[in-house]
Amino acid sequence: MRIAIYPGSFDPVTLGHLDLILRAEKLVDRLVVAVLHNPAKQCAFSVAERVDFLRELLAQDTSIEIATFHGLLVDFAHQLGARFIVRGVRAFSDFEYEFQMALMNRKLAPDLETVFLMPKEEYSVVSSRMVREVGAMGGDISGLVPEQLCERIAARLQNPAQLG
Ligand code: PNS
Repeated sequence: MRIAIYPGSFDPVTLGHLDLILRAEKLVDRLVVAVLHNPAKQCAFSVAERVDFLRELLAQDTSIEIATFHGLLVDFAHQLGARFIVRGVRAFSDFEYEFQMALMNRKLAPDLETVFLMPKEEYSVVSSRMVREVGAMGGDISGLVPEQLCERIAARLQNPAQLG
């Protein structure tokens, strides 16, 4: 069974993430979307909210699971029996960070292969960081995040005190 892990912060999930998930799903038998639980990092959305958003979007998809992890990604990948780590590269600017991470993960766990996928061109400038910034200033984030979550994401970004 081909199992892949798609790790990230997903703070919040974007249309770029969703595009990547649907591409990765076609390549494997089981895809685990893994939300990093990093108490040291201040996020706009709680881990539970980020997981709920992903579950809501992917509820119909039986080959996709949503999980959380803390600690090393490679340890969690081994626990799952995953052989592949999926990451997205949008532009050249992503490359250095992704390259370093992939090589570090390879050093830690040579049995795991990082697979890079490119999202649809129109999502090449979409990132969670941009969504947070635009949303916090009351800008329009439709077309950047999944439509069914758009209002909730926008409301939270404008009222960060309501972090759940
Ligand atoms: O969406 P992001 O924030 O770019 O995802 C980064 C993530 C979660 C994939 C990365 O920070 C990670 O894997 N963290 C777990 C800690 C780890 O394994 N570090 C060593 C490899 S760099």
